[in-house]
Amino acid sequence: MTEKLLTPLKLGAIELAHRVVMAPLTRMRAHWRDGAPTELNAEYYAQRATPGGLLIGEASPVSQQATGHPNVPGIHSAAQVAGWKRVTDAVRAKGGHMYLQLWHTGRVAHSSHQWLGKPPVAPSVVQAQGMAMTAFFKRVPYEVPRALRIDEIAGVVADFRQAAVNAMEAGFDGVEIHGANGYLLEQFLYSKTNLRSDAYGGSIANRSRLVLEIADAVAGAVGAERTGIRLSPYGIANDSAEAEPMPLFTHLVGELARRRLAYLHLIEPRASGTGQAEVFRDDQPSTAAIFRPVWPTAIIDAGGFTRANAIEAVADGRADAVAFGRFFISNPDLVRRVAEDLPFTPYQRPTFYGGGAKGYTDYPFV
Ligand SMILES: Cc1cc2nc3c(=O)[nH]c(=O)nc-3n(C[C@H](O)[C@H](O)[C@H](O)COP(=O)(O)O)c2cc1C
Repeated sequence: MTEKLLTPLKLGAIELAHRVVMAPLTRMRAHWRDGAPTELNAEYYAQRATPGGLLIGEASPVSQQATGHPNVPGIHSAAQVAGWKRVTDAVRAKGGHMYLQLWHTGRVAHSSHQWLGKPPVAPSVVQAQGMAMTAFFKRVPYEVPRALRIDEIAGVVADFRQAAVNAMEAGFDGVEIHGANGYLLEQFLYSKTNLRSDAYGGSIANRSRLVLEIADAVAGAVGAERTGIRLSPYGIANDSAEAEPMPLFTHLVGELARRRLAYLHLIEPRASGTGQAEVFRDDQPSTAAIFRPVWPTAIIDAGGFTRANAIEAVADGRADAVAFGRFFISNPDLVRRVAEDLPFTPYQRPTFYGGGAKGYTDYPFV
């Protein structure tokens, strides 16, 4: 019997041949000088492309101000667009589809990435607990951010809009707004990082305003059927977390649902493996199961998936597609391994971020 995971799915404007998606994965291997993707990046993505499959390109800063890590690929300059074009050409040559994730890191950036060494920006002056990564790959405590003035917010929205236009010029099928994992958009959503008393703070509606304005601007520029969004309700990454996330996300997802975006991408709270260690919390509800009834288009579910529970999540209708993160790092032919029930190669955490081909393009194919 063919598992539903391996059957076609309409995802906004595109038609997928199967539902095994590559999650957005920051690898910090773009050109150090200008954040332009390189030939090596094109080879990495092309290795993971399959006919009719979907790759979501790693989080890409929409501006210099949005940049929070060294050697991440941007989507705000001509060189970056040209670099990404090489990547999308290589993916398309294998019959694959590709979205790009649009990113603003907000308070968890570091001044070494900012023009003139200015402090990172945030909704409010609330310093994150934990470690930033400088432009020279050094881990240092997060800095005290500067609160965005209300007259600067339209500029942030415009940066997302322009980045989406740039992504289409670079050959992507669509863009995913990064509303997850404790970055700027989630900093606006969550009450502990948003202490504003203007139209962007306070009530749930006000805290949701920036995300919705960005969704409208991006969808207005490239089409709702080419716009997805990633959210992580119950998430704790990058010193985030909301004590009572459900009223907030019920409002936000309800508002987003009216916009009929291509998809909603959820990260299950049970898994957050982006940092130094394995994290697995099994005591949390499935957010895909919670939001499936109210979301009108496709749901991509991510976080802690194996072959078995991915098949199950799609079969029981909780998710329309499943995104794999860490196993897509260590298995360039992950789709084949899922289809043929072959073992997965384990991933090597020390080579997740930065470096060259090692731990990037040298993982074995079956
Ligand atoms: C090295 C690494 C980089 C990541 N980069 C991103 C990113 O750029 N954007 C994002 O939304 N999530 C990012 N994540 C989270 C993954 O997309 C995914 O949600 C997480 O790894 C859980 O899925 P998994 O259990 O299949 O790995 C990253 C995770 C890892 C391990």
